[in-house]
Parts: sequence; C-alpha cells; structure tokens
Amino acid sequence: MERRNFIKQCGLLGASCLGLSLFIESCGATHYVQGIASNNRLQINKSDFIILKKDKTTFRKYIITKLENSDCPIVVYRFSENNFSALLLRCTHQGNELNVNGDMLTCSAHGSEFSNKGDVIQGPAEQKLKSFPVTTDEKNIYIQLAA
Ligand code: FES
Repeated sequence: MERRNFIKQCGLLGASCLGLSLFIESCGATHYVQGIASNNRLQINKSDFIILKKDKTTFRKYIITKLENSDCPIVVYRFSENNFSALLLRCTHQGNELNVNGDMLTCSAHGSEFSNKGDVIQGPAEQKLKSFPVTTDEKNIYIQLAA
C-alpha cells in the first residue's frame, strides 16, 4: 500500500471512530425510565439518576418517563438531592412533542424554546409548560399527576 493511501485510510478510520463514539455518547445521554403509577401519582427511584463510572458517582441532569396511557412523555430534571421538576413534553403553542437538549426544551414545529423549569425562552409559545408537583423521600420521587 502506498504511503499516501495508508495515511488517507487511517484518517478515515479515525474519523469513523470519532463519529461512532460521539453517536454512542449522545445515545447514552438520555435515560428512559418506566415509573410506577398509582393513585394519580408516578413513582421514580432516585437511583435512576445515578451514573457510576470507575468508582465515581455522578448524576444525570434529567430522565424521561412516560405513562402507559399518555401520548406525551414527562421530563424530570434533577437540581439537587431533593429538588426536581417534572414537565410535560408538549409544546404550549400547538401541542407538538418537545425535544430535550440538555437544560433546554425545543420544539421542532415552529422553534419555541423552554427552560428546564418550563419557562418560555423563545416563542411563538407564550405559556409555560405544564408542570407537575414533585415530592421526595429518601429513595423515591413522586410526581403528582392530578389533584
Ligand atoms: S407547536 Fe411548538 S412552536 Fe408551534
């Protein structure tokens, strides 16, 4: 093999590996959880936020859960040990399902953006996202779905 072709193939291989690792990392960023629903309340384990890497514990910023009979998922953000927000991933403009991009929720339909507390950052949406009251105990998070 000529030197030039060898260098070219090594470059392509390196770019492929980089692309694959970025893809795997992005896939691992979103964690989906099936909560336990009862009495208009959804229960999620706090441990679902834990990431263990080489004896080091870190926490996911958010997880996504979905009720069996709902067409729209809920994102649960972790701010601290006992401080969470639970937001319905439905745009308040025309009801499109939102995408989670770290601390930002975006709508692909017309470009609205929301914060991780549900506030409108950019329209055309004008209303906050639907949020659910959240309580915690030592091990669990409880999302109150209806009063
Ligand atoms: S439906 Fe989300 S911006 Fe229009």
